[in-house]
Amino acid sequence: MSCRGAEKRVALVRGDGVGPEVIDAALAVLEAAGADLEFVPVELGYGRWKRTGKAMAEEDLELIKSCHCVLFGAVTTPPDPDYRSVLLALRKGLDLYANIRPFSAPGLDFVIVRENTEGMYSGVERLDQEEATTLRVITSRGSLRIAERACAIASKREKLAIVHKSNVLKSDTLFLRICEETARRWGVPFENMLVDAAAYNLVINPKRFDVIVTTNLFGDILSDEAAGVVGGLGLCPSANLGDNYALFEPIHGSAPDIAGRGIANPVGAIRSAAMMLDWLGEAGKARMIEEAVEWALGQGVRTPDLGGSCSTEEVAEAVSNRLAWSD
Ligand code: NAI
Ligand code: MG
Repeated sequence: MSCRGAEKRVALVRGDGVGPEVIDAALAVLEAAGADLEFVPVELGYGRWKRTGKAMAEEDLELIKSCHCVLFGAVTTPPDPDYRSVLLALRKGLDLYANIRPFSAPGLDFVIVRENTEGMYSGVERLDQEEATTLRVITSRGSLRIAERACAIASKREKLAIVHKSNVLKSDTLFLRICEETARRWGVPFENMLVDAAAYNLVINPKRFDVIVTTNLFGDILSDEAAGVVGGLGLCPSANLGDNYALFEPIHGSAPDIAGRGIANPVGAIRSAAMMLDWLGEAGKARMIEEAVEWALGQGVRTPDLGGSCSTEEVAEAVSNRLAWSD
């Protein structure tokens, strides 16, 4: 699979904690699916920071930019004020403004489209002894491009929910207006919903949602909630998309509490690899992987977070074997 000269180059960031474990599982499945990719390993994260004092360097970004996209495990971000989050640096450096998180479970299927570059994560902050402030920045350009992405997805599905808090936050009146205008222009049916109501509805009646578009912090929180609703963090994939680059990663973190035990759920990483194949123009192979994952879960091939007793490797093996049979 990882043959040099393959048409598509993928920067491979295994990361920290369970990152390498779930990425190895995803690689095994990609190989079984017959994906023709060249992987370019890039070491980033806390492990590297501990070893070298740098979590990521300018050259890494250049190397990554020479690839078509990134497959990313997870990294540890220590609560050290001097440590700069690798993922935030990549999202900014590659301008990956759209975070696409599909959630599926039997009877449930919806997508959260989260703005990834501004809002509460603007980075415009001040920390004094007596007062601390974070500036919530919403721009018309940032809102328009995320609204366009969300409408492009919703136009192939059913409807859009614009999630905001414009009754309190002036910044969200801009976001809401631009999303509504964009949805009207696309002819996409839409509703708007306050974020607290959306958080409630997601638990009470998740079936009412199809595509949700929202700002950075709200999307961060709602998507972990959504992961809980569909059965767990370990199941869920994501794509971080810009106009030129893309990064695919499971939505979970480095899970230090279970790292090194071979029990991390690889499904989120495997599904992220399928999303990557789809983005690279291999929709057929992506669908085959999705179906093989569904099949394995349905057969009870599950890691302990889902109540099963399988290892990470056993799940990857079951999915890979299923792919081999369906050839
Ligand atoms: P986490 O997602 O790593 O773990 C939360 C809980 O879910 C833990 O109990 C963990 O064992 C479980 N879990 C996560 N992934 C799992 C999997 N694949 N299989 C089975 N169980 C799984 O979030 P937490 O604990 O808040 O953060 C740990 C570290 O990860 C921190 O340093 C944080 O900064 C980092 N992080 C990194 C992310 C990324 O690289 N994209 C995203 C979120 C957190
Ligand atoms: Mg998060």
